[in-house]
Amino acid sequence: MVIILNSTDVKAQLDSNAYDEPHRPKVHFSPKEKWMNDPNGMVYYNGTYHLFYQYYPDSTVWGPMHWGHTMSKDMIHWEHLPIALYPDSLGYIFSGSAVVDSNNTSGFGKDGISPLVAIFTYHDPKGEREGKSDFQTQGIAFSLDEGKSWIKYANNPVIKNPGIKDFRDPKVMWFEKNKKWIMTLATRDRITFYSSENLKEWAKESEFGENVGAHGGVWECPDLFPLEYDSKTIWVLIVNLNPGGPNKGSATQYFLGDFDGKKFLPFSTETKWLDYGPDEYAGVTWSNTDKRKIFLGWMSNWLYANVVPTEKWRNAMTIPRELKIKKADNEIRIASFPVKEIEEIKSKPVVIKNISFQKAFDFSTKVDWLSLPCMIDLSMNVVKDFSITLSNKSGEALVIGFDKTQNNYFIDRTMSGKTDFQEEFATRHFAPRFTTNSKMSISLLIDISSVELFADNGLTVMTEVFFPNSPYNQISFQSDKGKIKKLKYERLNDIWR
Ligand code: FRU
Repeated sequence: MVIILNSTDVKAQLDSNAYDEPHRPKVHFSPKEKWMNDPNGMVYYNGTYHLFYQYYPDSTVWGPMHWGHTMSKDMIHWEHLPIALYPDSLGYIFSGSAVVDSNNTSGFGKDGISPLVAIFTYHDPKGEREGKSDFQTQGIAFSLDEGKSWIKYANNPVIKNPGIKDFRDPKVMWFEKNKKWIMTLATRDRITFYSSENLKEWAKESEFGENVGAHGGVWECPDLFPLEYDSKTIWVLIVNLNPGGPNKGSATQYFLGDFDGKKFLPFSTETKWLDYGPDEYAGVTWSNTDKRKIFLGWMSNWLYANVVPTEKWRNAMTIPRELKIKKADNEIRIASFPVKEIEEIKSKPVVIKNISFQKAFDFSTKVDWLSLPCMIDLSMNVVKDFSITLSNKSGEALVIGFDKTQNNYFIDRTMSGKTDFQEEFATRHFAPRFTTNSKMSISLLIDISSVELFADNGLTVMTEVFFPNSPYNQISFQSDKGKIKKLKYERLNDIWR
């Protein structure tokens, strides 16, 4: 059989597969078109990483929320799937999580198939318009075909609203010791923990966080999970916050402590940030990945997410990152680093050792031109001021560096290209260095419109987006009497080709 496509069909097909528009990320997930915010329902099942996301299919600005759906075998290459959850009479589908109910505690399983259960917030726009305070409730839905189709539970909502306006983003995990599900819910300025035996009936256990940590805005999108450190179990409580981040707007803070199935007890009340850059938000981890904990955030900030200069779609996700606990200068912290699966898309490395220069070193001359996306790893034997400049022929530039006097890493996007869509976009952002180690190492994951900085093996992380009028194709290093011990440059393959 011969199928004849007219030229418009061919063009439409090429266009839809292109992923080649200005500013389109090449190694980060972004929706084919329209609006996206938070990652949702991240669950690993039968060899597949599912990622759902806050999605508005009718516009490139935020609106009535659906759950978009994509899946991946390696968290790097993504396959687009139909929308998983649509708004209904109870409201829009806001953020939430998904679990594999292996013991069929919910009774949703059938013929030996374990149900996937999604737990999400219903946001009733009518109640909100009428000035009520109980318009956010929690609902559940299940899938028996690996997330392809979902059936909403007939008796939703499963948690009614006690009169708290911001009452949302349930993250659910199985607490084996008590044989119970634990829900971590963001409730305005604190976290409320609930427990359940069947995902349908929930009992309140405790609250955490009033007057603890950062409170510059509303607490949103939490996560609770254990990580092993030094043969001990440490509980991590992630709490996203908007606004009030260390560099303004949205950001992700976390607490380390103990959890006994009822209460979370922090080791310290100091605010710790998982990512200091302005553009990682609503980040949480995949469920059902056993001891491995993999984190993914939305690569934007509510300060300007709705007005960034992309036309067909708005916003992308960060690279998935593996979380580990590490000790630096006697303090334990979370370190994050791109998942090892990224190795698959790396091309042959260019390695240069022992580089010395007076003021600047133009790396572009060594590799003909800077080709994005890429990963750059840099190590130095001394701690001193340096900067790395990514630029294009029109003189637009992004500067990433370290300021020894302040003991700060920084990213400066003042001159990075299009910046006038929001007044606070063109600025320099800072992040502390957490080790006094005399050796420095930094890794940069650079895509067409983003950079993720992992310094000191992931102890300091910064994510930042930018919109140059043409992609950066030059890179140079500046430092006084500079010495780079080792420089590694690896091009990354476009995941959409
Ligand atoms: C975080 C958030 C969540 C909410 C969702 C709505 O970015 O505000 O609290 O569920 O986005 O889209």
